[in-house]
This record gives sequence, structure tokens and C-alpha cells, in this order.
Amino acid sequence: MNRQELESVAQRLVAKGKGILAADESFGTIKKRFDAVHLESTEETRRSYREMLFTTPGSEEFISGVILFDETIRQKTAEGTPFPDLLSRKGILPGIKVDQGTTDLAFFPGEKITEGLDGLRGRLVEYRGLGARFTKWRAVITIADHLPTRTCIRANAEALARFAALSQEAGLVPIVEPEVLMDGSHDIQRCEEVTEAALKSVFPELSEHRLILEGMLLKPNMVLPGKKSPRQATVAEVAEATVRCLRRSVPASVPGIVFLSGGQTPEQATRHLNAMNALGNLPWELSFSYGRALQDPTLKAWKGEAGNVSIAQQRFYHRAKCNGAARFGKYSEEMEAQAP
Ligand code: 13P
Repeated sequence: MNRQELESVAQRLVAKGKGILAADESFGTIKKRFDAVHLESTEETRRSYREMLFTTPGSEEFISGVILFDETIRQKTAEGTPFPDLLSRKGILPGIKVDQGTTDLAFFPGEKITEGLDGLRGRLVEYRGLGARFTKWRAVITIADHLPTRTCIRANAEALARFAALSQEAGLVPIVEPEVLMDGSHDIQRCEEVTEAALKSVFPELSEHRLILEGMLLKPNMVLPGKKSPRQATVAEVAEATVRCLRRSVPASVPGIVFLSGGQTPEQATRHLNAMNALGNLPWELSFSYGRALQDPTLKAWKGEAGNVSIAQQRFYHRAKCNGAARFGKYSEEMEAQAP
């Protein structure tokens, strides 16, 4: 393991004006996304969809890294270039999701634990050989009447720490993702309370496992009211609550925080990131690692048709550009008027 390499990869991922594309949907998730546009999920449709995204002209201006799925890191362009090589040639860092999804936490109804630690050391060596420079692991925390429990938060924090330590040992920068879900009718205060508790469990666990905080990134949810909450929040409220929560729980030695979009619309996710960066004077880079918020408009335009590739790529470029501007707090609604 080379400490300097970890630090420099982490810093490249949060370079000014750039962020990460999460294109690591598992078989189940990509099927759900394709179903929405009436497209069958096959090895070939998944491959050509990812090729369309990764070959978008100019995307490297705003995209620093792409998180791939196990199948995707082994796939190639129609011309035969492996995806990790294609991305590297554009100056984009290839990464890989290494968790194997969630399962019910025994004796804790309604709560989940993430699997994938068994055999992870060997898989990390293989991924590094395939070109990966960073990894991701997602833990899921659900808010409900008596949830989350301390046990669920703690068990997930420990799994995140073990994943992160194994990644650094293999020379890969871990993206630690404890996601507090937006599902439910809770208010923004409850989300803030739970997010703070989760982060205050994760960071001591990372230190306990001797993690190099300078060589990792945090991928949290933004602090938002539940989707079914009767009281939705303003952009300013979300920005303030999220930054307050992070300041209370994320050490300044962490180089960057890359948000997930979690079910926000693409425009909301951009507005919120922009408002946080506009506050200024933050100890870490605040960036994005969006899946749906970068892909939804492009997938709707593409629909699996070769003839739609150009418009789909223009839409992807546009969302990446808007989020790139949000990194500087310089996004404006007028930018949406230029949407293709
Ligand atoms: P969303 O931005 O669609 O929430 O996906 C990000 C991600 O990688 C979830 O693990």
C-alpha cells in the first residue's frame, strides 16, 4: 500500500469542478431503471448503455471517476476497448462497487446489513488488476417509528470499516457510503438526527480499524425530509442542515464528501449541492457521486436506440456540466434553459 498514492487518488476524485458518476447498478437495480423506459436488461443492452455514457464527448471536463459494477469492469466497447482503459485514456479514474448488496439483519425486523466481506481481499487484488483505483461499499439505514436501532448502525459501521481497511491495504481508495434512506414521512430534523448518529458511529469505527482518513472519501445522503413528509424543506434549509450535520461528525482530514442523490430529482440534487458550496469556507471538498441524478434524463432519451445516442450524450453532458458548476456554487436556473 502506498499512502501517497491513496491520497493523490482521493484528491483527484474531488478535483475542482468535477465529481463522480455512479454507474454501478446491480442486475436488479439496472433492470428496474430499464423497465421504466420499457427496455429489456440483457448483457448487451447493459453494455451498450454504459458505452453510450462513457464515450460522451467532453464528459471528462466534469467527471473525475466512474463507479463500475462487477460485470461492467469486464466489458468492452463495440470496438473492443475494455471500459477501464477507455475511461483511463480520458483521464477518468475507474472504480468498482465491491459490496454484494443488503440482506435482512437477523432479529432486527425492517433493518438491513450489507454483505460482501468474505473473500473481499482476493476480489480487490483482481479489481486492481482490471484497472480499478477506488472502491465503494453502501450501507443502508432506514428511518421508521422505532428505527434505526443502535445495533443496526453499529453493525453497518463495522462492516464499512472492514471494507475500507481492506481497500486501502490493496492500494484502493474506499468510498464509505452510509445511506440514510429518503423513504418515509419523517421530517428533516429526524433525518439530521439519524444521519449524525450514523456518521458518529462510522468515524470512530474507521479510526479503530486504523484507516488513513486522508485516503478515503465519504458518500453520505443529504439531510432531507422523507419523501412522504407533509413538510418539505427549502433549498437553504437542506444546505444548512446538511453542512451542520457534516461539520459535527466528519473530520477535516477527510479530503472530500461526495453525495449520493438518493431519489431527488436531477435538478434538486444539483440545487442542493450548489447551495452548500455557495455557503463557502468548508473543511472538505463537497462534490457529487450521483447515479439517478446524472443518468435519468439520458436514459429516458436513449431508450436503447442507436439513433438516440447523440441526444442522450448531450443530456448526460449537460447534467455533468450543471453539477460541475454546483461544485463552485455557480449553478443557476438559467443553465437549465440550455438543456438539450
Ligand atoms: P443515486 O445517486 O441514484 O442514489 O445512486 C448513488 C449510489 O451509488 C447509490 O449507491
